[in-house]
Amino acid sequence: MNMTFLPISKLIHLPSDSEVEARGWIYRARSSGAIVFLVLRDSSGIIQVTVKKGNLPDLEFEAARDAAVESSVVVQGRLFEDKRAPGGKELRASAFKVLGSAQPFPITEYQSEELLLDQRHLWIRSREQTAVMKVKAAVMAGARDWLRENEFIEVTPPMLTQNACEGGTTLFKLNYFDREVFLSQSSQMYLEALIFSLERVYSLAPSFRAEKSRTSRHLTEFWHLELEAAWIDYRKSMEVQEQLVTAMVQRALRDTREELVHLRKDIGPLEAIAPPFKRITYSQAIEKLQALGHGITWGCDLGAPEERAITADEAVPVFVTNFPKECKPFYMKEDQEDPRTYACADLLAPAGFGEIIGGSEREVDLSKMLARLEEQGLCLEAYEWYLDLRRYGSVPHSGFGLGIERVVKFLCDLEHIRDAIPFPRTVSRAYP
Ligand code: 4AD
Ligand code: MG
Repeated sequence: MNMTFLPISKLIHLPSDSEVEARGWIYRARSSGAIVFLVLRDSSGIIQVTVKKGNLPDLEFEAARDAAVESSVVVQGRLFEDKRAPGGKELRASAFKVLGSAQPFPITEYQSEELLLDQRHLWIRSREQTAVMKVKAAVMAGARDWLRENEFIEVTPPMLTQNACEGGTTLFKLNYFDREVFLSQSSQMYLEALIFSLERVYSLAPSFRAEKSRTSRHLTEFWHLELEAAWIDYRKSMEVQEQLVTAMVQRALRDTREELVHLRKDIGPLEAIAPPFKRITYSQAIEKLQALGHGITWGCDLGAPEERAITADEAVPVFVTNFPKECKPFYMKEDQEDPRTYACADLLAPAGFGEIIGGSEREVDLSKMLARLEEQGLCLEAYEWYLDLRRYGSVPHSGFGLGIERVVKFLCDLEHIRDAIPFPRTVSRAYP
């Protein structure tokens, strides 16, 4: 026999009558007397398999009949047209072998969300999860390629730090020999140090936030794409952001169109994403919200309901610029034209998905920075190195951080951010 081993998505396109070998896991199984109907899945797709008594040795037929869902198997046979089968082909087995037999699978059709989370190590085999992970890989590949083409250098910041980049309330503390350190909330400060030699840098690393709030868009561990560049202001940074986000969306559409079609009602809105994104100031946003009947006043931070209202009717992402100082962290630069605000912008995904990027120009004035650190009661000693960046050849610079799972949640139209990461960490869950 002249066997061709190929991924299912490839072999299903071979002409009928081809002799093939497929490897995968049993996705569905049903038998009636002398015939067993299986659906086999691998990382690339699914195919229907029929195993008929008499077409292969009896022992192999029995193995197929008795194999439980999720057993790993190798099937040899011939392809036939079958209009009703997924992909339009059926594989008729002439040889069948179980490599790893499965016990009764603990996940069946209608399971509670909690059970699916307890069984996450098994649930990630599902077609939905597989599709989401492929979209996520495409998004990250699209980002890395765009960044390389635009001469940003990837760097590797530490995850253990003594600095609270995003405020003291969401820090995870650890014993580090004889002292206390934190898990990194953001690599920003280290990226700022690296621009003095490399000028344009980025990192893709986990960030950790001890978020006590249970929301559909907060994880305690998320993947953070952060970028920092010398010589640019926050307006130029917004241009970088809109191009980068567009490149990420384009890559997902190019490489994982089928997955997106499977996950979303409509991919049309993703095709429409292109620069320039809309820009409104925080003050304009407040006026709009007040006109819509929200009880928000100038100076309050935007929460999920406000972000949803701002972008509900938007097809492309929206930048909200110039937040009041009281809403944002110590490192941002005061806006020259409106000193009540920072030269900063959050990027909100369309259709109510909320913030996907936070960014700003950075304060470079040593005395202003010192005053703010003191105001916030931060331990100055731990920030000495960061202050040195203002002492030795300080340079105008801007940067931002993008939450990969937030982008994936939006692209895949997910209800909850935990489905944008294979092993979600939230306030109530660190297992499996
Ligand atoms: O707005 P954030 O807190 O900004 C920073 O950390 C800056 N230091 C980044 C920088 O300028 N280098 O976080 C940036 C992005 C958010 O817009 C959001 O997409 C994501 O990180 N993010 C989270 N994603 C999931 N779960 C959480 N708990 C998140 N917190 C922030
Ligand atoms: Mg933010």
